[in-house]
Amino acid sequence: MEIVVKTLEGLEGVLANELKSLQLSNIEILNRAVRCEGTWSQLYKCNYCLRTAMRVLVPIKKATLESQDDLYDVVKSIDWTEYIPDKKTFAINGTIAGELFTYSRFAVFRAKDAIADQLVEKKGYRPNVKPKNPDILIDLYINADNELTISMDSSGKSLHLRNYKYRQYKAPLNEVLAAGIILLAGYDGSQVFQDAMCGSGTLITEALMIAANIPAGMFIEKFAFQNWANFSPEVWESVKEIAKNGIRHPENEIIGSDLNRFAIRDVKKNLQKFPLKEKVQLFERDFFKTNGHPNRLLIMNPPYDRRIAMDNIHEFYSEIGNALKKFWQDSTVWVITSNLNAMKSFGLRPTKKITLNNGGLESKLYKFEVYEGSRKAKFQRKD
Ligand SMILES: C[S@@+](CC[C@H](N)C(=O)[O-])C[C@H]1O[C@@H](n2cnc3c(N)ncnc32)[C@H](O)[C@@H]1O
Repeated sequence: MEIVVKTLEGLEGVLANELKSLQLSNIEILNRAVRCEGTWSQLYKCNYCLRTAMRVLVPIKKATLESQDDLYDVVKSIDWTEYIPDKKTFAINGTIAGELFTYSRFAVFRAKDAIADQLVEKKGYRPNVKPKNPDILIDLYINADNELTISMDSSGKSLHLRNYKYRQYKAPLNEVLAAGIILLAGYDGSQVFQDAMCGSGTLITEALMIAANIPAGMFIEKFAFQNWANFSPEVWESVKEIAKNGIRHPENEIIGSDLNRFAIRDVKKNLQKFPLKEKVQLFERDFFKTNGHPNRLLIMNPPYDRRIAMDNIHEFYSEIGNALKKFWQDSTVWVITSNLNAMKSFGLRPTKKITLNNGGLESKLYKFEVYEGSRKAKFQRKD
């Protein structure tokens, strides 16, 4: 069966690697998505285990549209009694790029009409549309060439909503983005991991999940595929059991610190229900008074003067760069920020730059190899 997994900009490659390790086949990288082929049990696994997936879709119909009416006809040609069990609510997510529909809401409207009309004809009742938390979620995609793909969304809620955040301090990262950053940095638990501006701890929590091989969806209460007519509870139980049996004791510590005690309190609260949470050490501490250690992987998401206002963001970034040169020699440091201008004051030359998107803000992930000479020479050599 064809499976299309949606992700965030810049994470397509890491998602493809995750799919490879789950043994999906015919993996093909698209824009903010990866296409592959897999079985039903792999579809459940994708939802439960993938760290960089936002949604897992199963395409059920493709067509090229010539007119607005074509959309109604194509949608109505699908046998919806197979996909929408009796009494289940549904909703449609629409992404429309072609010029046939100026308003994407209108396209979604027409598709809903086609489904409802068919179920009235076939079953004698009008199904309930429920925009928030529907039982069945349908994905409607029309690209710039008016090519339509209708898919069943097997996830329901976006998979970044992992259901472990009771509390979040200011400007938290999206969980999928945090996991993607850590995987882009090549972390697998074999190093000590540190975030010295951890806020409510998204990077810390995702690092623990990666190091301990805790399934990303372990705390998600329900996925949309569990409402499907062909849902197999036996296959689902076995997918969960196999994944949970893979949880392992992390070799190394995960260290989080932040200037703000409320942030640290939030991380502690969020970690409460996690297995192996004792591997995480948390401190209320000023980054500028924190020493690095050789061979430690530091990933940080400093304030970027948008969601958290700063007096002088250039000076702040310059001080971070100086502190790294002084106290973090022989460390690999990754910084994710949406303030690309302030990074000009950092005073260290990155060995890698990756464009990402943080909640609609263009962001970059910078890699720095801090070594002894960085303190004397203002700029580092390139890789
Ligand atoms: C953008 S937030 C980090 C959000 C975090 N990545 C998350 O997902 O929750 C930046 C954090 O840097 C912290 N911070 C600012 N200056 C600091 C300093 N000098 N030392 C340690 N933490 C600092 C703030 O308290 C804030 O929690």
